[in-house]
Amino acid sequence: MFFPTFLLVFTVIQVSICLNEDYYWREYTGTIPDDALVGGQDINKKDVYIGQAYVHGDGLIVSEIFPGVREVHAPINGVKTVKSYIKILCGVQQNFYWSPANASHLHLQMIDKRPIIGGHENGGILYIGRLSYEGNIRIGKIVPFNTEDARFYFNNQGSEKSVSSYEVLVYNENAVDVRLGQ
Ligand SMILES: *[C@@H]1O[C@H](CO)[C@@H](O)[C@H](O)[C@H]1NC(C)=O
Repeated sequence: MFFPTFLLVFTVIQVSICLNEDYYWREYTGTIPDDALVGGQDINKKDVYIGQAYVHGDGLIVSEIFPGVREVHAPINGVKTVKSYIKILCGVQQNFYWSPANASHLHLQMIDKRPIIGGHENGGILYIGRLSYEGNIRIGKIVPFNTEDARFYFNNQGSEKSVSSYEVLVYNENAVDVRLGQ
């Protein structure tokens, strides 16, 4: 009995290490890669994607990507338009899910979860957030190092808006079981 149990645990660890690397940022130049993660749908039911924009002097900022639109609008000290050095999050869709959270409790809500790191600013990491706002899904950054005030920031028609209730993109631990069951 002991041996098979040991073997199973070993296998689970192997698989989970492997799945850890099941997402990657590809260069984005206007075309959506086939393996891009869908972040949600806009008001016209079109998919919205998850971007990361390099903003000189500010950091790597989570931004939303719309198919056919080459530039992004990064929420950082207002909204910055970025036309190059943009990346798009790719991977296996079922390895991720959106978990509800809020600014005052994020540090507690993430204790047993693995949020995806979407970039950084001021030397601290950013998480990937989203919110359904006026019929559109909005994708933006969460600033987790502002403990107990870890708000979500997004581009709202050219100005930076922040809210305290949102969803966080986290890694789906159960994806391991799905794989082993195949
Ligand atoms: C934040 O989430 C916690 C835990 O789910 C909840 O108890 C609290 O009321 C929420 N706070 C706000 C401001 O929504």
